[in-house]
Amino acid sequence: MSKQLTIAIDGPVASGKSTLAKSLADALGYLYFDTGAMYRAVTLAALQRKLSMDDQAAVEALAREVHIDLRPASVADGRLYDVLLDDVDCTWDLRTPDVEAHVSQVSAYPGVRTALTEQQRRIGLRGGVVMAGRDIGTVVLPEADPKIFLTASQEERAQRRFEELRARGDSTSYAEVLESLKQRDAYDTSREVAPLRAAEDAISLVSDGLQAEQVLERALALVRERQAQLATGT
Ligand code: DC
Repeated sequence: MSKQLTIAIDGPVASGKSTLAKSLADALGYLYFDTGAMYRAVTLAALQRKLSMDDQAAVEALAREVHIDLRPASVADGRLYDVLLDDVDCTWDLRTPDVEAHVSQVSAYPGVRTALTEQQRRIGLRGGVVMAGRDIGTVVLPEADPKIFLTASQEERAQRRFEELRARGDSTSYAEVLESLKQRDAYDTSREVAPLRAAEDAISLVSDGLQAEQVLERALALVRERQAQLATGT
């Protein structure tokens, strides 16, 4: 049997990380773990409790307090997994414009990152995991191997996100989606703690113009190559 790898997939918003990570995990029989869902869950919890997003100490305390669980999808409604927030399913609530609008701010708080990173590291170190996020290869699991940095142009990513929202009956315009994506990119790449960037030993995959299956094929080829190298001790 091949060694159970810990695979990191990082990249900007709507780069196709979730789709790739899920299909790669399924192909390998690994666990798919989306760390973005955890930051979204803390944001949702703060909104539900009507906390001010500017109240850093309160949001950080909340991140230490709430219980977030990711499990295999229990409903066939297009979800890739279930997210439970204090035992209540909140999977689709994590995708609302309200959560989108605040999640960058929440995820920039160091106390929030520390609380969530510890949990992510514990799960990632077990192996047999495809972990997706922004800082998996750089901060959460620098020992992950291979590390994939997945990206695409802002316009292509905005178009994908726009289509996803429209399919769910959301009427946000393409221009609004593009604007919000640009803001999130700027925020995610410039924040002080764990900014979005590729790890030095990450392999870049650019998904412009590629179908999801083609991205999966390339990623699988990288993984197989790595497994073969490990098997021969290279
Ligand atoms: O991947 P996503 O769009 O669901 O991520 C939601 C937000 O969480 C996004 O603003 C970036 C942030 N995030 C992060 O800071 N670190 C991660 N490992 C994952 C997501």
